[in-house]
Amino acid sequence: MSLDWIASRGRALQGEVRVPGDKSISHRAVMLAAIAEGTSRIRGFLEGEDTRATAAILQQLGVRIEAPSAGERIVHGVGLHGLHGSAAPLDCGNAGTGMRLLCGLLSGQGFDSTLIGDASLSRRPMARVIEPLTRMGASIEAFEGGFPPLRIHSNKALQAIDFESPVASAQVKSAVLLAGLYASGTTRVREAQPTRDYTESMLAAFGWPIRYSPGEATLEGGHRLRATDIVVPGDFSSAAFLLVAASIVPGSDLLLRDVGINPRRTGLLVALRAMGADIVEENPRLLGGEPAADLHVRSAALRGIALPAAVVPDMIDEFPALFVAAAFAQGTTAVRGAAELRVKESDRLAGMATGLRALGVAVDETSDGATIHGLGANGRVHGAALDSRGDHRLAMAFAVAAQRSDGEVRISDCANVATSFPRFDALASGLGMALHIA
Ligand code: S3P
Repeated sequence: MSLDWIASRGRALQGEVRVPGDKSISHRAVMLAAIAEGTSRIRGFLEGEDTRATAAILQQLGVRIEAPSAGERIVHGVGLHGLHGSAAPLDCGNAGTGMRLLCGLLSGQGFDSTLIGDASLSRRPMARVIEPLTRMGASIEAFEGGFPPLRIHSNKALQAIDFESPVASAQVKSAVLLAGLYASGTTRVREAQPTRDYTESMLAAFGWPIRYSPGEATLEGGHRLRATDIVVPGDFSSAAFLLVAASIVPGSDLLLRDVGINPRRTGLLVALRAMGADIVEENPRLLGGEPAADLHVRSAALRGIALPAAVVPDMIDEFPALFVAAAFAQGTTAVRGAAELRVKESDRLAGMATGLRALGVAVDETSDGATIHGLGANGRVHGAALDSRGDHRLAMAFAVAAQRSDGEVRISDCANVATSFPRFDALASGLGMALHIA
């Protein structure tokens, strides 16, 4: 049965809050801890369905993982060659990151694996990882057209490659680097547009020699990972919805504590500030080796912008939130060079354009972006029934848009919010948003 939300105009957002742990970092932390030597402790682990699915798969492959408290994991690493095959399929759920990174990691094992996912993940392109991994010698079968399920065959003789990634994707880069741990020779990945570097920095934290700079990473196979302790900062992508909500609801004043602000993730801050948002980074520091800060946001009148294409990879998950900010800005906001949004958990360009139009916002959709005609600082949307398409970020974006609504907004198919932001509805309503389960 579909989990639906009812959202409507709420109060100004006030208070202080911690958003859940970073999803990208949580996936990588549990994967690397699993194949490290010794016991690693992870704090701030995202208790979301995506990252729990990855941890469950590693347990299925023979790794002992304890969860002494919420957000904490103790991982008893089995070493690079200590995983055991599982006859049962490995279920990645909704997680593209889980599936693509595991595909790299499992390509160089001495056993076969089958990776499966939910309906959304089963529609997501895997050729982008299969192609470079095959060049490394991996043998991977996919459903016709390069879709899950993936059958990865045993192979203990991977060869390093020098790979220039045709798509700006941290998942593709990471899959190749993880396979590179098991390959003989030097694996190099180059990217025309740099993407998040968590795999690189975490490999270094686990003691694997790696050279990297924006757009390039190089490592050799045959080293060892040594257990370490990881602190996961708050997920900027989860903070994004609250940043936009507080920006567009007059009178809001909100403090989001311990948010990761890696520059490869914070393109939305650049965009929102260019639109006139009032967001201050307080108490900047390193958290688990990553730049983090408390983000203090107050409402502000926004104006539309032409988003520079270069910033797109740095905010690839934040477009649903940006579209809502644009809907309440003065003037138009133009997005180009964002065709990747069509192959996320849903087609986010189509999903956001359809939803915003139903709310009364004019949106011109193009093949690789959209132009949103903002309603202005005093504008309101009207009540409507919206389909989140089972996409967590569409559901949260629509709930934020409803805070400036004249009527009731019903949002269908919201259960997948638990993949990245469990209990978003309770946390958001505690801050002032009007949002509840239907
Ligand atoms: C992620 C990379 C991005 C992002 C996803 C998480 C990661 O995907 O959209 O939510 O953890 O590496 P792509 O690599 O497909 O752009």
